[in-house]
Amino acid sequence: MIKISASLLSADFGNLQRDVDALKELGVEWLHIDVMDGHFVPNITMGPVVLAGIKTDLFKDVHLMIEHPERYIEAFVKAGADSITVHQETCTHLHRVIQQIKQAGCKAAVSINPATPVSTLVDIIDFVDMVLVMSVNPGFSGQEFIENAPAKIRALKAMRLDLLIEVDGGINAETAPLVRDAGVDVIVSGSYLMSAADRAEAVKALRGVV
Ligand code: DX5
Ligand code: ZN
Repeated sequence: MIKISASLLSADFGNLQRDVDALKELGVEWLHIDVMDGHFVPNITMGPVVLAGIKTDLFKDVHLMIEHPERYIEAFVKAGADSITVHQETCTHLHRVIQQIKQAGCKAAVSINPATPVSTLVDIIDFVDMVLVMSVNPGFSGQEFIENAPAKIRALKAMRLDLLIEVDGGINAETAPLVRDAGVDVIVSGSYLMSAADRAEAVKALRGVV
């Protein structure tokens, strides 16, 4: 079954722990932690201190949208990250950073922006636990799905059959079938899930179960 990684970017930051507990109750598998630095992306969000304050046994899926991610790997692992995703666009020495994440005892993933081709991952794909395909330009929740994501998911699956693929941005009841049909394994959901009147129904729609 497709896993859901609920993005905390759309949570109520005044009641973060309450929202995390509600997501656990809802049955999502992962928590998606969007870290932004105001440099790689225009927005600024949270650092390791916020992650460390969250008490949960949900899998913590940390998405680093920051320049020089190698400077912060150990801090995020110490704060409780189970998986760390870095952007291909931010790493001059991508293989070194992936090794660094694994050596810190964490799952390692790489992400590509909508304009970055999957071919840039040919020589790293065997070293990562997951690839995150961005279906919006990173920086904000609530943006519109960019239509090239399903083709990129299909191309990645063809490159490595057992590769775990996650998709992030603009996923809702209309766009989820497009990425599911392409073979995605993990769906990130922010605004669609967190603003749903009935979150349990929203989870079902994302997973494609009736
Ligand atoms: C965007 C973030 C996403 C965002 C998704 O830069 O990486 O994780 O929270 O939000 P929605 O699902 O609203 O597009
Ligand atoms: Zn994200």
